[in-house]
Amino acid sequence: MTTDFIPNELEKMRQEGLYRRLRRVEGEQGPTLILDGKEVLNFSSNNYLGLANHPALREAAKEAIDRYGCGSGASRLISGNMTLHEELEEKIAELKGTQAALVFNSGFQANIGILSTLVGEGDVIFSDALNHASIIDGCRLSRAKIIVYPHCDLERLEEELKKASGKGRRLVVTETLFSMDGDEAPLADLVDLAERYGTMLMVDEAHATGVFGPNGAGVVAKLGLGKRVPVQMGTLGKALGGFGAYVAGSQALRDLLINRSRSFIFTTSLPPAVLAMAIAAINLLNKEPQRRLALWHNCRTLREGLKRLGFSLGQSQSQILPLIIGDAQKCMAFSERLLQQGVFAQGIRPPTVPPGSSRLRITLMATHTHEHLHRALSAFEKAKNEL
Ligand SMILES: Cc1ncc(COP(=O)(O)O)c(C=O)c1O
Repeated sequence: MTTDFIPNELEKMRQEGLYRRLRRVEGEQGPTLILDGKEVLNFSSNNYLGLANHPALREAAKEAIDRYGCGSGASRLISGNMTLHEELEEKIAELKGTQAALVFNSGFQANIGILSTLVGEGDVIFSDALNHASIIDGCRLSRAKIIVYPHCDLERLEEELKKASGKGRRLVVTETLFSMDGDEAPLADLVDLAERYGTMLMVDEAHATGVFGPNGAGVVAKLGLGKRVPVQMGTLGKALGGFGAYVAGSQALRDLLINRSRSFIFTTSLPPAVLAMAIAAINLLNKEPQRRLALWHNCRTLREGLKRLGFSLGQSQSQILPLIIGDAQKCMAFSERLLQQGVFAQGIRPPTVPPGSSRLRITLMATHTHEHLHRALSAFEKAKNEL
Protein backbone atom coordinates (compact mmCIF):
# COMPACT_ATOMS: atom_id res chain seq x y z
CA MET A 1 0.00 0.00 0.00
CA THR A 2 1.47 3.32 -1.01
CA THR A 3 0.47 6.89 -0.15
CA ASP A 4 0.01 7.88 -3.81
CA PHE A 5 -3.64 8.62 -3.16
CA ILE A 6 -2.81 11.64 -1.01
CA PRO A 7 -2.14 14.23 -3.78
CA ASN A 8 -5.40 13.18 -5.50
CA GLU A 9 -7.36 13.59 -2.27
CA LEU A 10 -5.88 17.05 -1.74
CA GLU A 11 -6.65 18.09 -5.31
CA LYS A 12 -10.25 16.93 -4.93
CA MET A 13 -10.63 19.02 -1.78
CA ARG A 14 -9.18 22.06 -3.57
CA GLN A 15 -11.63 21.68 -6.45
CA GLU A 16 -14.57 21.47 -4.06
CA GLY A 17 -13.44 24.54 -2.13
CA LEU A 18 -12.92 22.39 0.96
CA TYR A 19 -9.13 22.48 1.26
CA ARG A 20 -7.91 23.87 4.58
CA ARG A 21 -4.61 25.40 5.53
CA LEU A 22 -3.17 26.63 8.78
CA ARG A 23 -2.85 30.36 9.25
CA ARG A 24 -0.04 31.62 11.41
CA VAL A 25 -0.68 33.80 14.45
CA GLU A 26 2.14 35.84 15.97
CA GLY A 27 1.83 37.30 19.45
CA GLU A 28 -1.24 37.18 21.64
CA GLN A 29 -4.85 36.04 21.19
CA GLY A 30 -6.57 39.38 21.53
CA PRO A 31 -9.30 41.36 19.78
CA THR A 32 -6.57 42.12 17.26
CA LEU A 33 -4.14 39.54 15.91
CA ILE A 34 -1.06 39.32 13.74
CA LEU A 35 -2.29 36.80 11.19
CA ASP A 36 0.06 35.63 8.44
CA GLY A 37 2.15 38.72 9.17
CA LYS A 38 -0.68 41.27 9.01
CA GLU A 39 -2.54 42.94 11.88
CA VAL A 40 -6.27 42.20 11.70
CA LEU A 41 -9.37 42.51 13.87
CA ASN A 42 -10.09 39.11 15.35
CA PHE A 43 -13.69 37.90 15.08
CA SER A 44 -12.74 34.20 15.04
CA SER A 45 -11.77 33.36 18.59
CA ASN A 46 -13.55 31.58 21.44
CA ASN A 47 -11.62 33.72 23.93
CA TYR A 48 -14.99 35.34 24.63
CA LEU A 49 -14.09 37.07 27.90
CA GLY A 50 -10.54 37.99 26.92
CA LEU A 51 -9.09 35.80 29.69
CA ALA A 52 -6.48 34.11 27.46
CA ASN A 53 -4.08 36.95 28.17
CA HIS A 54 -5.38 38.20 31.54
CA PRO A 55 -2.57 39.09 34.01
CA ALA A 56 -4.13 36.90 36.74
CA LEU A 57 -3.91 33.79 34.51
CA ARG A 58 -0.35 34.58 33.48
CA GLU A 59 0.67 35.02 37.13
CA ALA A 60 -1.12 31.86 38.24
CA ALA A 61 0.65 29.83 35.55
CA LYS A 62 4.07 31.22 36.47
CA GLU A 63 3.56 30.60 40.18
CA ALA A 64 2.39 27.04 39.53
CA ILE A 65 5.48 26.32 37.47
CA ASP A 66 7.72 27.72 40.22
CA ARG A 67 5.95 25.65 42.86
CA TYR A 68 5.05 22.41 41.05
CA GLY A 69 7.28 22.30 37.96
CA CYS A 70 6.19 21.90 34.35
CA GLY A 71 4.79 18.44 33.77
CA SER A 72 2.44 16.17 35.70
CA GLY A 73 4.59 13.14 34.92
CA ALA A 74 1.87 10.52 34.49
CA SER A 75 -1.83 9.83 34.16
CA ARG A 76 -4.09 10.65 37.11
CA LEU A 77 -4.36 7.00 38.18
CA ILE A 78 -0.60 6.50 38.24
CA SER A 79 1.32 9.38 39.87
CA GLY A 80 -0.22 12.33 38.04
CA ASN A 81 -3.02 13.27 40.45
CA MET A 82 -1.75 16.57 41.84
CA THR A 83 -3.34 18.76 44.48
CA LEU A 84 -4.18 21.29 41.76
CA HIS A 85 -6.35 18.75 39.89
CA GLU A 86 -8.46 18.25 42.98
CA GLU A 87 -8.56 21.96 43.81
CA LEU A 88 -9.78 22.73 40.29
CA GLU A 89 -12.42 20.00 40.48
CA GLU A 90 -13.74 21.39 43.76
CA LYS A 91 -13.95 24.86 42.16
CA ILE A 92 -15.85 23.52 39.17
CA ALA A 93 -18.30 21.57 41.33
CA GLU A 94 -18.89 24.71 43.38
CA LEU A 95 -19.47 26.83 40.27
CA LYS A 96 -21.87 24.28 38.78
CA GLY A 97 -23.58 23.46 42.08
CA THR A 98 -22.92 19.72 41.68
CA GLN A 99 -21.66 17.10 44.11
CA ALA A 100 -18.46 16.52 42.13
CA ALA A 101 -16.52 17.25 38.96
CA LEU A 102 -13.78 15.56 36.95
CA VAL A 103 -11.25 17.28 34.72
CA PHE A 104 -10.38 15.93 31.26
CA ASN A 105 -7.48 17.04 29.08
CA SER A 106 -9.73 18.53 26.42
CA GLY A 107 -13.36 18.80 25.45
CA PHE A 108 -12.82 16.30 22.68
CA GLN A 109 -11.44 13.76 25.11
CA ALA A 110 -14.20 14.48 27.61
CA ASN A 111 -16.97 13.85 25.10
CA ILE A 112 -15.55 10.61 23.73
CA GLY A 113 -14.70 9.39 27.23
CA ILE A 114 -18.04 10.22 28.84
CA LEU A 115 -20.24 8.89 26.04
CA SER A 116 -18.35 5.63 25.60
CA THR A 117 -18.55 5.05 29.36
CA LEU A 118 -22.24 5.79 29.87
CA VAL A 119 -23.62 3.75 26.97
CA GLY A 120 -22.50 0.75 24.95
CA GLU A 121 -23.69 -2.01 22.68
CA GLY A 122 -27.45 -2.61 23.05
CA ASP A 123 -28.06 0.97 24.26
CA VAL A 124 -29.43 3.95 22.35
CA ILE A 125 -28.16 7.55 22.02
CA PHE A 126 -30.34 10.39 20.76
CA SER A 127 -28.11 13.12 19.37
CA ASP A 128 -29.02 16.58 17.98
CA ALA A 129 -28.16 16.85 14.27
CA LEU A 130 -25.89 19.85 14.90
CA ASN A 131 -23.88 18.39 17.77
CA HIS A 132 -20.10 18.89 17.68
CA ALA A 133 -17.74 16.38 16.04
CA SER A 134 -16.46 15.25 19.45
CA ILE A 135 -20.00 14.25 20.46
CA ILE A 136 -20.52 12.47 17.14
CA ASP A 137 -17.27 10.55 17.58
CA GLY A 138 -18.12 9.74 21.20
CA CYS A 139 -21.44 8.31 20.04
CA ARG A 140 -19.69 6.21 17.40
CA LEU A 141 -17.05 4.98 19.80
CA SER A 142 -19.66 3.87 22.32
CA ARG A 143 -21.13 1.30 19.83
CA ALA A 144 -24.62 2.23 21.00
CA LYS A 145 -27.31 2.69 18.35
CA ILE A 146 -27.28 6.36 17.31
CA ILE A 147 -30.49 8.19 16.50
CA VAL A 148 -29.87 11.67 15.15
CA TYR A 149 -32.87 13.95 15.61
CA PRO A 150 -33.34 17.14 13.54
CA HIS A 151 -31.84 20.21 15.21
CA CYS A 152 -33.82 21.09 18.36
CA ASP A 153 -36.88 19.19 17.06
CA LEU A 154 -38.40 17.83 20.26
CA GLU A 155 -41.47 16.36 18.56
CA ARG A 156 -39.23 14.11 16.50
CA LEU A 157 -37.12 13.34 19.54
CA GLU A 158 -40.22 12.29 21.46
CA GLU A 159 -41.34 10.00 18.60
CA GLU A 160 -37.92 8.37 18.63
CA LEU A 161 -37.94 8.02 22.41
CA LYS A 162 -41.31 6.27 22.24
CA LYS A 163 -40.07 3.85 19.57
CA ALA A 164 -36.93 2.97 21.50
CA SER A 165 -38.51 2.36 24.88
CA GLY A 166 -37.34 -0.70 26.78
CA LYS A 167 -34.10 -1.03 24.80
CA GLY A 168 -31.13 -0.94 27.17
CA ARG A 169 -29.84 2.38 28.56
CA ARG A 170 -30.88 5.52 26.76
CA LEU A 171 -29.13 8.87 26.62
CA VAL A 172 -30.02 12.21 25.02
CA VAL A 173 -27.03 14.41 24.21
CA THR A 174 -27.06 18.06 23.15
CA GLU A 175 -24.99 21.19 23.23
CA THR A 176 -26.62 23.92 25.31
CA LEU A 177 -25.25 26.69 23.10
CA PHE A 178 -24.56 25.42 19.59
CA SER A 179 -21.01 26.14 18.51
CA MET A 180 -21.62 26.99 14.85
CA ASP A 181 -25.10 28.56 15.07
CA GLY A 182 -25.04 30.36 18.41
CA ASP A 183 -28.59 29.24 19.26
CA GLU A 184 -29.66 27.62 22.53
CA ALA A 185 -31.15 24.16 22.89
CA PRO A 186 -34.70 24.15 24.33
CA LEU A 187 -33.23 22.82 27.54
CA ALA A 188 -36.20 23.04 29.92
CA ASP A 189 -38.32 20.99 27.51
CA LEU A 190 -35.47 18.55 26.91
CA VAL A 191 -35.18 17.99 30.67
CA ASP A 192 -38.94 17.30 30.90
CA LEU A 193 -38.76 14.85 27.99
CA ALA A 194 -35.74 13.03 29.39
CA GLU A 195 -37.47 12.66 32.76
CA ARG A 196 -40.76 11.54 31.22
CA TYR A 197 -39.02 8.82 29.22
CA GLY A 198 -36.55 7.80 31.93
CA THR A 199 -33.58 8.75 29.74
CA MET A 200 -30.18 10.10 30.77
CA LEU A 201 -29.47 13.68 29.65
CA MET A 202 -25.95 14.86 28.86
CA VAL A 203 -25.22 18.47 27.92
CA ASP A 204 -22.14 20.07 26.39
CA GLU A 205 -21.63 23.60 27.74
CA ALA A 206 -18.39 24.23 25.81
CA HIS A 207 -19.50 27.63 24.52
CA ALA A 208 -21.81 28.54 27.40
CA THR A 209 -19.34 28.06 30.26
CA GLY A 210 -18.11 31.43 31.50
CA VAL A 211 -20.67 33.30 29.42
CA PHE A 212 -24.22 32.38 30.48
CA GLY A 213 -25.83 32.02 33.89
CA PRO A 214 -24.85 33.21 37.38
CA ASN A 215 -21.07 33.69 37.49
CA GLY A 216 -20.89 32.17 34.00
CA ALA A 217 -21.90 28.73 35.27
CA GLY A 218 -23.68 27.99 31.96
CA VAL A 219 -27.14 27.62 30.46
CA VAL A 220 -28.15 24.83 32.87
CA ALA A 221 -27.52 27.18 35.81
CA LYS A 222 -29.17 30.11 34.02
CA LEU A 223 -32.39 28.07 33.84
CA GLY A 224 -32.02 26.67 37.38
CA LEU A 225 -31.95 23.09 36.03
CA GLY A 226 -28.75 21.94 37.74
CA LYS A 227 -30.39 19.24 39.82
CA ARG A 228 -32.15 17.76 36.78
CA VAL A 229 -29.23 17.47 34.34
CA PRO A 230 -27.09 14.57 35.53
CA VAL A 231 -24.16 14.94 33.10
CA GLN A 232 -22.83 18.46 32.46
CA MET A 233 -19.73 18.72 30.35
CA GLY A 234 -17.90 21.96 29.55
CA THR A 235 -14.52 23.30 28.46
CA LEU A 236 -11.78 25.43 29.99
CA GLY A 237 -10.18 26.54 26.73
CA LYS A 238 -12.82 28.90 25.38
CA ALA A 239 -14.30 31.65 27.62
CA LEU A 240 -12.05 30.50 30.46
CA GLY A 241 -9.02 31.32 28.35
CA GLY A 242 -6.86 28.25 29.06
CA PHE A 243 -7.14 24.61 28.11
CA GLY A 244 -8.90 21.45 29.24
CA ALA A 245 -12.43 20.35 30.05
CA TYR A 246 -14.66 19.02 32.81
CA VAL A 247 -17.71 16.99 33.59
CA ALA A 248 -19.84 18.01 36.58
CA GLY A 249 -22.38 15.72 38.21
CA SER A 250 -22.65 13.20 41.02
CA GLN A 251 -19.79 11.62 42.94
CA ALA A 252 -20.86 8.26 41.47
CA LEU A 253 -20.53 9.65 37.93
CA ARG A 254 -17.03 10.89 38.77
CA ASP A 255 -16.04 7.53 40.24
CA LEU A 256 -17.36 5.61 37.25
CA LEU A 257 -15.47 7.82 34.80
CA ILE A 258 -12.25 7.47 36.79
CA ASN A 259 -12.62 3.69 36.52
CA ARG A 260 -13.92 3.31 32.98
CA SER A 261 -13.29 6.33 30.80
CA ARG A 262 -10.39 5.43 28.54
CA SER A 263 -9.65 9.03 27.49
CA PHE A 264 -9.31 9.89 31.18
CA ILE A 265 -7.33 6.82 32.22
CA PHE A 266 -4.83 6.40 29.40
CA THR A 267 -3.36 9.87 29.06
CA THR A 268 -0.89 12.07 30.91
CA SER A 269 -2.82 14.48 33.14
CA LEU A 270 -2.96 18.24 32.63
CA PRO A 271 0.17 20.08 33.79
CA PRO A 272 0.23 22.44 36.82
CA ALA A 273 0.30 25.72 34.85
CA VAL A 274 -2.87 24.81 32.94
CA LEU A 275 -4.69 23.81 36.13
CA ALA A 276 -3.67 26.98 37.93
CA MET A 277 -4.86 29.09 34.99
CA ALA A 278 -8.27 27.43 35.11
CA ILE A 279 -8.58 28.07 38.84
CA ALA A 280 -7.64 31.73 38.33
CA ALA A 281 -10.16 32.01 35.48
CA ILE A 282 -13.02 30.64 37.59
CA ASN A 283 -12.13 33.11 40.35
CA LEU A 284 -12.35 35.92 37.80
CA LEU A 285 -15.84 34.88 36.67
CA ASN A 286 -17.04 36.03 40.06
CA LYS A 287 -14.68 38.98 40.48
CA GLU A 288 -15.09 40.57 37.04
CA PRO A 289 -18.76 40.31 36.01
CA GLN A 290 -18.23 43.43 33.89
CA ARG A 291 -16.57 41.20 31.28
CA ARG A 292 -19.84 39.39 30.64
CA LEU A 293 -21.68 42.73 30.45
CA ALA A 294 -19.15 44.08 27.95
CA LEU A 295 -19.53 40.92 25.87
CA TRP A 296 -23.34 41.30 25.76
CA HIS A 297 -23.04 44.94 24.86
CA ASN A 298 -20.69 44.07 21.98
CA CYS A 299 -23.01 41.27 20.81
CA ARG A 300 -25.95 43.63 20.62
CA THR A 301 -23.99 46.30 18.77
CA LEU A 302 -22.57 43.96 16.12
CA ARG A 303 -25.75 41.92 15.69
CA GLU A 304 -27.89 45.01 15.19
CA GLY A 305 -25.28 46.58 12.90
CA LEU A 306 -25.07 43.47 10.68
CA LYS A 307 -28.85 43.19 10.54
CA ARG A 308 -29.08 46.84 9.47
CA LEU A 309 -26.72 45.98 6.61
CA GLY A 310 -29.17 43.27 5.52
CA PHE A 311 -27.31 40.19 6.76
CA SER A 312 -29.28 37.28 8.17
CA LEU A 313 -27.86 35.73 11.34
CA GLY A 314 -30.12 32.70 11.88
CA GLN A 315 -31.43 32.05 15.37
CA SER A 316 -28.33 33.22 17.24
CA GLN A 317 -28.96 34.61 20.71
CA SER A 318 -25.34 34.77 21.72
CA GLN A 319 -21.73 35.76 21.14
CA ILE A 320 -21.60 33.42 18.11
CA LEU A 321 -23.10 34.98 14.98
CA PRO A 322 -23.47 32.70 11.93
CA LEU A 323 -23.57 34.66 8.69
CA ILE A 324 -24.84 31.95 6.36
CA ILE A 325 -23.53 32.13 2.78
CA GLY A 326 -24.33 28.59 1.58
CA ASP A 327 -21.75 27.76 -1.07
CA ALA A 328 -18.30 26.87 0.32
CA GLN A 329 -16.28 28.73 -2.32
CA LYS A 330 -18.38 31.90 -2.04
CA CYS A 331 -18.06 31.74 1.71
CA MET A 332 -14.26 31.59 1.53
CA ALA A 333 -14.22 34.43 -1.03
CA PHE A 334 -16.25 36.60 1.39
CA SER A 335 -13.91 35.72 4.24
CA GLU A 336 -10.85 36.59 2.08
CA ARG A 337 -12.37 39.90 1.04
CA LEU A 338 -12.93 40.82 4.68
CA LEU A 339 -9.40 39.80 5.50
CA GLN A 340 -8.06 42.15 2.83
CA GLN A 341 -9.84 44.88 4.76
CA GLY A 342 -8.30 43.80 8.02
CA VAL A 343 -11.16 41.73 9.49
CA PHE A 344 -10.71 38.06 10.29
CA ALA A 345 -14.03 36.17 10.30
CA GLN A 346 -13.29 32.53 9.54
CA GLY A 347 -15.30 30.77 6.85
CA ILE A 348 -16.69 27.45 8.10
CA ARG A 349 -17.38 24.71 5.56
CA PRO A 350 -18.47 21.07 5.52
CA PRO A 351 -17.85 18.74 7.24
CA THR A 352 -17.85 21.17 10.20
CA VAL A 353 -21.30 22.37 9.09
CA PRO A 354 -23.88 20.61 6.85
CA PRO A 355 -23.37 20.89 3.04
CA GLY A 356 -24.90 24.06 1.62
CA SER A 357 -24.67 25.96 4.91
CA SER A 358 -21.13 27.34 4.73
CA ARG A 359 -20.89 30.46 6.79
CA LEU A 360 -18.76 33.06 8.41
CA ARG A 361 -18.68 32.24 12.10
CA ILE A 362 -18.33 35.64 13.72
CA THR A 363 -17.47 35.58 17.41
CA LEU A 364 -17.41 38.48 19.83
CA MET A 365 -15.12 39.21 22.76
CA ALA A 366 -15.58 41.36 25.83
CA THR A 367 -12.37 43.13 24.83
CA HIS A 368 -13.53 44.36 21.40
CA THR A 369 -13.83 48.15 21.54
CA HIS A 370 -16.52 50.29 19.98
CA GLU A 371 -14.00 51.33 17.34
CA HIS A 372 -13.24 47.66 16.49
CA LEU A 373 -16.93 46.96 15.95
CA HIS A 374 -17.41 50.08 13.89
CA ARG A 375 -14.45 49.20 11.67
CA ALA A 376 -15.74 45.64 11.26
CA LEU A 377 -19.18 46.85 10.17
CA SER A 378 -17.63 49.12 7.53
CA ALA A 379 -15.61 46.15 6.21
CA PHE A 380 -18.71 43.94 6.06
CA GLU A 381 -20.61 46.62 4.16
CA LYS A 382 -17.77 47.08 1.68
CA ALA A 383 -17.28 43.33 1.13
CA LYS A 384 -21.01 42.88 0.58
CA ASN A 385 -21.15 45.64 -2.04
CA GLU A 386 -18.07 44.34 -3.83
CA LEU A 387 -19.30 40.76 -4.05
C1 LIG B 1 -19.45 22.02 21.44
C2 LIG B 1 -18.03 21.62 21.60
N1 LIG B 1 -17.74 20.56 22.36
C3 LIG B 1 -16.47 20.15 22.55
C4 LIG B 1 -15.42 20.81 21.97
C5 LIG B 1 -14.04 20.32 22.16
O1 LIG B 1 -13.40 21.05 23.15
P1 LIG B 1 -11.81 21.20 23.18
O2 LIG B 1 -11.48 22.28 22.22
O3 LIG B 1 -11.50 21.51 24.59
O4 LIG B 1 -11.27 19.87 22.74
C6 LIG B 1 -15.67 21.94 21.18
C7 LIG B 1 -14.53 22.69 20.61
O5 LIG B 1 -14.40 23.07 19.54
C8 LIG B 1 -17.00 22.35 20.98
O6 LIG B 1 -17.29 23.40 20.20
